[in-house]
Amino acid sequence: MTNVVVVGSQWGDEGKGKIVDWLSERADIVVRYQGGHNAGHTLVIDGVSYKLSLLPSGVVREGKLAVIGNGVVVDPHALIAEIGRLEAQGVAISPENLRIADNATLILSLHRELDGMREDAASNSGTKIGTTRRGIGPAYEDKVGRRAIRLMDLANLETLPAKVDRMLTHHNALRRGFGVPEIEHAAIMEELTSVADQVLPFRETVWLLLDKKRRSGARILFEGAQGTLLDIDHGTYPFVTSSNTVAGQAAAGSGMGPGALEYVLGITKAYTTRVGEGPFPTELHDEVGQFLGERGHEFGTVTGRQRRCGWFDAVLVRQAVATNGITGIALTKLDVLDGLDELKICVAYELDGERVEALPASQGRRRGSNRSTSRLKAGRNLLLARANGPTFPHRLSNMYDRLKS
Ligand code: IMP
Repeated sequence: MTNVVVVGSQWGDEGKGKIVDWLSERADIVVRYQGGHNAGHTLVIDGVSYKLSLLPSGVVREGKLAVIGNGVVVDPHALIAEIGRLEAQGVAISPENLRIADNATLILSLHRELDGMREDAASNSGTKIGTTRRGIGPAYEDKVGRRAIRLMDLANLETLPAKVDRMLTHHNALRRGFGVPEIEHAAIMEELTSVADQVLPFRETVWLLLDKKRRSGARILFEGAQGTLLDIDHGTYPFVTSSNTVAGQAAAGSGMGPGALEYVLGITKAYTTRVGEGPFPTELHDEVGQFLGERGHEFGTVTGRQRRCGWFDAVLVRQAVATNGITGIALTKLDVLDGLDELKICVAYELDGERVEALPASQGRRRGSNRSTSRLKAGRNLLLARANGPTFPHRLSNMYDRLKS
């Protein structure tokens, strides 16, 4: 096996976990390179079900090294809790099989609170993102704002107080604005020092480790989280997550050069789902959408929220193939479509009377198409290709052939 990057080609929840687990049997190292504990999937191995959120999938397989790269935001409490849950299931986790980049950004309780406060405040103005409220966005903001606390900082108690000061100057100003109590310096120091002994043993200079391993012929699997349409640059901004989810991030988020990413595998569901707010051109609000949700068990692993469901959107997947440089696609959940009389694929949009073959980058333009539901519907009927056939599996194989083309 060459090195493989696994990415979701839609809005996440394409079934990456199963494929990553299957591929991890053939890999030596499994690396997470973006996101945090906003991701979530369930692995079933020998009849035992493991729920993973922050830890790379390889961690449950013996003899594999799991690596959390610098591009991930790490909530130390969530990390400790997840390790504890897996250990209770008999999975041994130690620096033998888990390493975390010493330059990875930490998510603190103040990030989680801010995420929630912003979402609550935005609910009144209708500008809510529908985040997982795990503090992902605020932690990435601090990283880019150069005031984040990183894993390595826990090992240096001399420089930590000044960093906490810098971060609190920013956060306490925000908290005053929200009318909530400011945070004491001592409280953050206590939060950080209380977890240091449990997380520091996993600390690693990840770029160096991966470079050495690669030179010695190790096979590396890069495990993407979320999906392409949630990418901070290429997704349906602002209804996105706060990291780059496209395959190129596997390099920057782990400290390897782009040449290390040899094969990009896009995981694609045979229909479309999304959790949270934001545009969704092929969304179905009818009994077919309900059928897909029930048949496909479309409930969020992290928040338990019901996923919105719709037809396969080839415009979006084409875009994902390009922005990720996808080499091959694994199509998932085709069986869920069995039982439907008619299957549809969106091949283009109609916007202001024009055929459009890319999702408009502008939120206003996207909203324009969303708002005019009847027109979009008419457009949708006009532009949808029918993939009908007499019986399953012939009908599904028609769908499969159509998606391949
Ligand atoms: P955040 O990542 O918590 O900031 O959430 C931003 C958006 O990304 C929201 O719409 C979430 O529902 C969505 N999101 C984050 N993680 C996942 C995931 O693993 N699967 C699907 N959607 C996700």
